[in-house]
Amino acid sequence: MMYAKRSRWGKTHISNADAGAWLCAQAPRTVKKSRLTIRAATVRDLDALVTIETACFGGIGPYRNHVFGESQFRYYLHRDHAITLLVTCDGTPIGSAIATIGRRARSGSARILSIAVITGERRQGLGRRLLRRLVRDLAARGCERIYLEVAVQADAARAFFQGEGFETVRRLPDYYGRSIHAWRMALATGRCRRSGNPE
Ligand SMILES: CC(C)(COP(=O)(O)OP(=O)(O)OC[C@H]1O[C@@H](n2cnc3c(N)ncnc32)[C@H](O)[C@@H]1OP(=O)(O)O)[C@@H](O)C(=O)NCCC(=O)NCCS
Repeated sequence: MMYAKRSRWGKTHISNADAGAWLCAQAPRTVKKSRLTIRAATVRDLDALVTIETACFGGIGPYRNHVFGESQFRYYLHRDHAITLLVTCDGTPIGSAIATIGRRARSGSARILSIAVITGERRQGLGRRLLRRLVRDLAARGCERIYLEVAVQADAARAFFQGEGFETVRRLPDYYGRSIHAWRMALATGRCRRSGNPE
């Protein structure tokens, strides 16, 4: 998860264990792509967004002090300059993503704040589909460059973004807290990966 203003927001109230257990009970074990939907999230999805976020970023990982709660999601859901996507399988939420679009005139840039797929559904290409959809939506809104931050120890996530064309541009010491460093990564949307899949 990427987070610009670390201490501005309150923490979420759902525990990581509760969120993980709920999601595991809800989600189908094998995701058939035909049953997948990626759509813009609404305020009705607040619980699902918080649950996914908590399950994926809470606990003991590098992002544990930067988990988005209901107030942050509510804020972004009501802002024109933000895109919040939800992935569902047969109506069950299994992934989410948030990005913000630079508000300065002609800034042409965007920032991915969070992208997550619940544990049991990873490595099936869902994250890739979600990221491609997000990049496509941002490009359609005029974003030519997309930034994000990822914890230095999060090798899997970095590999995931690199696979989609993101390049590491800078190391950010202590970004997520003391001794929790991050990489800043960037993608020029004109050079993003293309595929036959519309997402
Ligand atoms: C990062 C994340 C969204 C990827 O979702 P996913 O659905 O598992 O990703 P995909 O199945 O689409 O993987 C696409 C590619 O990314 C790379 N990748 C994904 N997970 C990886 C892992 N654990 N190790 C190495 N490479 C990985 C692979 O190249 C993979 O392609 P392949 O399966 O054909 O080898 C998911 O692991 C997640 O939610 N992680 C926790 C939250 C997080 O760290 N988010 C990123 C920072 S905000």
